[in-house]
Amino acid sequence: MKLIDGKAVAAEVELETKARIDALKARGITPGLAVVLIGEDPASQAYVRNKDKTCAALGMHSRKIELPASTSQEEVLNLVTELNADPAIHGILVQSPPPKHIDEHAVTIAIDPRKDVDGFHPVNVAKLAMEDPTAFVPCTPLGCQRLLIAAGIETSGAEVVVVGRSLIVGKPMALLLMARNNGGKGGDATVTIAHSRTKDLAAVTRRADIVIAAIGRPKSLGADHIKEGAVVIDVGINRVADPSTKSGYRLVGDIDFDAVAPKCSAITPVPGGVGPMTIAMLMSNTVTACERLTA
Ligand code: GUN
Repeated sequence: MKLIDGKAVAAEVELETKARIDALKARGITPGLAVVLIGEDPASQAYVRNKDKTCAALGMHSRKIELPASTSQEEVLNLVTELNADPAIHGILVQSPPPKHIDEHAVTIAIDPRKDVDGFHPVNVAKLAMEDPTAFVPCTPLGCQRLLIAAGIETSGAEVVVVGRSLIVGKPMALLLMARNNGGKGGDATVTIAHSRTKDLAAVTRRADIVIAAIGRPKSLGADHIKEGAVVIDVGINRVADPSTKSGYRLVGDIDFDAVAPKCSAITPVPGGVGPMTIAMLMSNTVTACERLTA
């Protein structure tokens, strides 16, 4: 069993991104990312802190905007309009999920698609479906694809089962892996999407050469779900109570790691698997946005 080291691959991606940032800086341009957090969800606060830290480490400009949960829809839309027009900002990310009174779709479509580094705007969703190389692709599935490529895992012709159908992970993951890759890597797979209404999930996932778990519930897939020799990518980042830790919790994935790992040919750990990749791809997308907006 091979443990896929997300931290190491993320460091590789960040090195490539740093070189592109240095090239922009030589032209007097600093890529800028705005991260908007509405409300006080502790997991979201941790993600936003991490994004801010990584921006600083790479020498990017970052604007962290933390708004109270009581912020109105109109205030959020006005902020997005302001960021769309700000020449120092090349990427805009509004942390999901927002508080219930915010219409997330309205916020998503207000973001300039050229600054939509999350890849959630309908223009970018359509571009991904159309295999247009100028699409901004959501960071988590992009990171999963990059992990498969870095680990030398062949996707062409492989049976992939994606568990989860969200706009953030499941749907774009399926589109990426099924894309015609014209000799490239990380595509041309036979993809099935399973979800909470799938009948006999274990029978479906057992067919897979590659399982991508994006369910959002700890230990959702066990040994019965996985074929001997399969590759498993665990997208889950779940907090479970653990009084023995300083914080009182620890992070676990969607996979029952101890049960599944012995059956796998390769698996990602949590933490240290997909998590670091998401941030690395966000930085890369932001630099891509900056390169295009300043070309
Ligand atoms: N919440 C969890 N993952 C993400 C992400 O990739 N982008 C945004 N905006 N919110 C998230």
